[in-house]
Amino acid sequence: MLSSANLVSGARACTRSQVIRPSAFGGLLGSPVASLHRQARRSTEPCSIAEPLSWTRSSIAGLLAAGLLASGSVRPLSASAVVNMAAAVDPKTVPTAKLNSGYSIPLVGWGTFSANEELGTKSTHTALEAGYRFIDTGVVYGNEGDIGKALKEELSSGKIKREDLFICSKLNQDQHAESAAYDAVKGSLKALNLDYIDLYLIHWPLTDKPGPELNPPAQETWKGLERAVDEGLVRSIGLSNFSPEKTEKWLKDARIKPSVNQVEVHAHYRNEHVRDWAKKNGVHVTAYSPLSSPALVKEMGMDFPELMQDKTVLELSKKYNKLPSQVLLRWGIQNGTSIIPKSTNAEHQKENINIFDFELSPEDYQKLSSFTFQGKTQNGEGWAYQEKGPWTTYEELWDEPEPAQQPHPKS
Ligand SMILES: NC(=O)c1ccc[n+]([C@@H]2O[C@H](COP(=O)([O-])OP(=O)(O)OC[C@H]3O[C@@H](n4cnc5c(N)ncnc54)[C@H](OP(=O)(O)O)[C@@H]3O)[C@@H](O)[C@H]2O)c1
Repeated sequence: MLSSANLVSGARACTRSQVIRPSAFGGLLGSPVASLHRQARRSTEPCSIAEPLSWTRSSIAGLLAAGLLASGSVRPLSASAVVNMAAAVDPKTVPTAKLNSGYSIPLVGWGTFSANEELGTKSTHTALEAGYRFIDTGVVYGNEGDIGKALKEELSSGKIKREDLFICSKLNQDQHAESAAYDAVKGSLKALNLDYIDLYLIHWPLTDKPGPELNPPAQETWKGLERAVDEGLVRSIGLSNFSPEKTEKWLKDARIKPSVNQVEVHAHYRNEHVRDWAKKNGVHVTAYSPLSSPALVKEMGMDFPELMQDKTVLELSKKYNKLPSQVLLRWGIQNGTSIIPKSTNAEHQKENINIFDFELSPEDYQKLSSFTFQGKTQNGEGWAYQEKGPWTTYEELWDEPEPAQQPHPKS
């Protein structure tokens, strides 16, 4: 279980009493919806609608996108479509972006929050088989060791070469002191069974210490990370959940510039504030929760519209003959970010990286960039805003006004 200290950097919109349990997410994996999706994707026979009452809009959307439902009628899915959807990709065909450190980051990575223990190790293998080479983890996820176990097996078997991987991890909120940041890197290296990490981030501008300023200051944390770069333990360093204002205030004169800011971005939260600044300043943006974190939203009972079930997304899914998830992830790539969809379902993992054989037209990209609903699934409410600071409100943490429609957990 996560401690209260690491709960805050757990990147979750939960109250202190609502600790995220990976098992709670795992429970969704065996749901009737997931199983219906699996059946739909594998079947080459007309689908039999035996349990209409258990269907959700998402399962219908999946079937629609998979070509199983057309204009309300049921028709068979061709075998080739299923094979195409489930195929692994050649990692060499996954595009990359050049970071200001000189290294390249693949545009699709595997997000790993809540992929723990056996499932974390197994899903690391299936992610690598699917063609992912970029893996996103963090100290607070508690799964670096599970991932490291699989990496050791893959690297020692010779199936994967170290230079082909791009591993990102993040330090926790109790690791912000200069020496603690440096030690965090060493701890991650050990757990991941690696001798260097490609990208290391400060997970949140939070240290769980009340007061008017972030304590220890981010400049100190950064020096610890710069030392790790100097010693070859890390190749690129960056931030996560940092506003442009905080980045400029604290790291304007940093010896090594941040390469990446990892923040929430999806069609229901375009995050233009961060993306525009990053573009002007040569900082790459990685979009987390690119599917708008449906399991978290459900788990937290948040009043958040379901992106994969949005009418426009479903229309485009049908038009391009791609799954709603693939349409949304493709939008993320065309948006100029790398994306890190999380899945511990091997089929979803393959689907999520199979997005380079189609392109959204400028008009369709624009449609997905025009949703009036905008809100973060992880806004810090209930855990990052503290009465005694440093951040007491949404505006203080994010340095921008709270969107008018920002959803809140249902009480
Ligand atoms: N830096 C930060 O503070 C921060 C914060 C949040 C997240 N992250 C990173 O970003 C990653 C992704 O974010 P996220 O996990 O919040 O949300 P997400 O990737 O938007 O959504 C993940 C959810 O979508 C489901 N899913 C994935 N692919 C699917 C598909 N093809 N069809 C249907 N459902 C699908 C997953 O379930 P299944 O597993 O069943 O497929 C899971 O429940 C995290 O794992 C983590 O690595 C970073």
